[in-house]
Amino acid sequence: MKPQMQKVIVLDFGGQYSMLIARRVREARVYCEILPYDTPWEEIRKHGPAGVILSGGPASVYLEGAPRCDSTLFQGGVPVLGICYGMHLMARQLGGKVEQGSRSEYGRTAFTVYEREPLFQGECFEQEECCYGWMSHRDAVLEPPPGFKVLARTENGVIAAIGDDSRRLYGLQLHPEVQHTPGGMNILKSFLYHVCGCTPDWTPRSFVQYAVDKIKSSVGPDGRVVCALSGGVDSTVVAFLLDRAVGERFVSIFVDHGLLRKGEAEQVVDLFRSRLKGQFIHVDARDRFLKALAGITDPEQKRKIIGAEFISVFKEKALSLGDIAYLAQGTIYPDVIESGTVAGAAVIKSHHNVGGLPEELGFKLVEPLRELFKDEVRLVGRELGLPDSVLKRQPFPGPGLAVRVIGEVTAEKLELLREADAIFREEIEKAGLGQDLWQYFAVHTGIHVVGVKGDNRHYGPVVALRAVRSEDAMTADWAKLPFELLERVSARITGEIPGLARVVYDITSKPPGTIEWE
Ligand code: XMP
Repeated sequence: MKPQMQKVIVLDFGGQYSMLIARRVREARVYCEILPYDTPWEEIRKHGPAGVILSGGPASVYLEGAPRCDSTLFQGGVPVLGICYGMHLMARQLGGKVEQGSRSEYGRTAFTVYEREPLFQGECFEQEECCYGWMSHRDAVLEPPPGFKVLARTENGVIAAIGDDSRRLYGLQLHPEVQHTPGGMNILKSFLYHVCGCTPDWTPRSFVQYAVDKIKSSVGPDGRVVCALSGGVDSTVVAFLLDRAVGERFVSIFVDHGLLRKGEAEQVVDLFRSRLKGQFIHVDARDRFLKALAGITDPEQKRKIIGAEFISVFKEKALSLGDIAYLAQGTIYPDVIESGTVAGAAVIKSHHNVGGLPEELGFKLVEPLRELFKDEVRLVGRELGLPDSVLKRQPFPGPGLAVRVIGEVTAEKLELLREADAIFREEIEKAGLGQDLWQYFAVHTGIHVVGVKGDNRHYGPVVALRAVRSEDAMTADWAKLPFELLERVSARITGEIPGLARVVYDITSKPPGTIEWE
């Protein structure tokens, strides 16, 4: 099966939901990619799209300079679904009238469907409570373009959906991609399956086959590939795909920088030693990293040193292996989007990613996960038989515990932090709360305070606990953990770790805080 045969293109007009639209299409098991709104039709056509979705966006179509798409798109015979701004644009470019509505509609809005075929299919649109949609606009289509019918209106009489069945062009004022639109997924699926004729065959299994074939054809019959393992899900999935595709021509290198959590380095070594056909190299670089970090307190400097050190250790090892032409990396779709290579998106990511190795190393890149979202990477990992300890691993910063030790990083502080962190994680997992939280970890605050142990006053370090709920790490809420749990964790940490004086819980959300302390 060639999953990429059927592809839907999302044209990004700068809406906050473009990525969400793409995710929902993938959830409907149809492969899709995001392209900038002004991609010429000739370019779009090369993708052989089964359909095109125009995203929402902050602009107003009737203002000068408003972003437009190549209007040949609407004559290409390919189904198009315009969402919010996308609908306004389609309507205007095809001769309809779009203006600022007499009243704005934001949030949950009731609408009535006049034509259930083809978009509003399924039982859910027979039930009244499902005819709600989430709206976010001031502008509205006042007159649909010639050839279009009004398919639905809101309770205020605003046009909620339009369509031209003969040209297979549709527009929605409501946002089907957000969770607040019940039945939104039905609308998207109807467009994908009934209008575009897609079948839901973008599955983890089909992806594995596709990725293995693609790796084989890009590295050829003799090419050797190297990959850096971090212990995270992306690099692990990459390694297992590579192993399946090229077996003994694959070498994975695990640079142990000594900044992982308790037990993690051992887990990585066990998993790869026991499961990979290719060569697995474990570089114990713990002392080297500690030396490089000695005396350094500035977080950004720590990140830079760790990144540079990582590259130099990896380079030494990889170059000693002889004729290796390819480097496999765990770049995923949000990285591609955030790096600005897609959709003219602003560069959002400023974090140094330790997995990202520079071009000067001279390798040709193999990036089998470039097209996947994070949740899809996990599904592929499950398909490859990876254990939960990898699949459900919480996000962990590339510079590791170095950014969770405030001030200078020392072996002693790392050891104390590892123990406290392990206790916190264990108790959270025992309480069954792990899956509800985005991240939960301990921080060595670097400050010392007074405590009493036995009959003696004692002076020791403070550990902070941090647990947050988040969707995407851009914003986060501190987690309201049960007091009993915090009490147990505190008692265990102070009781089991000699020398530690105090435990505090961080009750700062992001913003104004960040998730990490450094
Ligand atoms: P902040 O602290 O900025 O973190 O709210 C947002 C997310 O990014 C992770 N993080 C990093 N990841 N290298 C990484 O690969 C880094 O230097 C880094 N700093 C923070 C953090 O764990 C959270 O998930």
